[in-house]
Amino acid sequence: MEVANDRKLWLRGPGAFCSDPPQRHKVARRLVLLGPPGVGKGTQAELLGTELKACHLSTGDIFRCAKEARTCELTPALTSALQFMRRGELVPDQTVLDLVAERVGCLKCEGGFLLDGFPRTVTQANALEALLARNHIRLDAVINYELPIDQIVARLSGRRTCPECKAVFHVQARPPRVEGICDHCGAKLYQREDDRPESIRVRMEAYEKSTVPLAEFYRTRGLLRSISAEGEPKEILERTLEALQNGSNKS
Ligand code: AP5
Repeated sequence: MEVANDRKLWLRGPGAFCSDPPQRHKVARRLVLLGPPGVGKGTQAELLGTELKACHLSTGDIFRCAKEARTCELTPALTSALQFMRRGELVPDQTVLDLVAERVGCLKCEGGFLLDGFPRTVTQANALEALLARNHIRLDAVINYELPIDQIVARLSGRRTCPECKAVFHVQARPPRVEGICDHCGAKLYQREDDRPESIRVRMEAYEKSTVPLAEFYRTRGLLRSISAEGEPKEILERTLEALQNGSNKS
């Protein structure tokens, strides 16, 4: 499986540029992916990115990249954001909004986008709506992935992530070809700090309290498509593409 885009601009901020900018498409898709931690948003974003040629933009990936920066390169806001993240809590809205505003070029990209993990609160959703309106960008749909909690915990505890290209694997459901090594770039896979049981609990609580209300926010705007995240990643991809084509709910 190839990684569709290097996401340099999104991950490194306004000074960076994409080495392989997407071309203008006949139908550029602009989607938000919603759902609890570990439901498979990143996995689907990777598959959808290849299918729709749109760029996968994850706010969680920005924070994880910042973690790898030298301490002297981190602003006080980012240093504090990483502490929130480590505990499984949401990063304050203003920090997230500043980061997204710096990267607005990615939202204007003619290849479209798949926003993963943003927005996560009603404040962020209102800010995104205003940002898109100011830039005359239309959101096509919000995909809301749903999965029972026991399957979510199993997915999170077996997850392994590539520190370089950000590809995501699972020790049982989606193992790499060589144990512990990324199929795409050969880097050594690692387990995320916030996949520890105590952080998972905090993340689920933050999701219930702050992100669940977004389903209603987007339902009232006619954008919500709820999809069952059970089964193989390819089956979920098919359901997602079908819901996008029909413009309807497929649970
Ligand atoms: P973020 O990185 O966005 O994490 P998340 O939303 O908690 O989602 P995850 O990345 O954990 O899961 P996922 O749904 O992408 O699942 P995945 O595809 O990896 O955010 C991390 C933190 O950053 C937050 O807690 C917060 O602190 C901060 N943050 C980020 N954005 C923020 C914002 N906007 N506001 C405030 N704070 C913010 O899949 C999981 C596992 O399951 C993998 O191992 C995968 O291989 C496996 N898998 C996937 N699909 C399947 C399948 N169909 N069958 C079996 N296994 C599967």
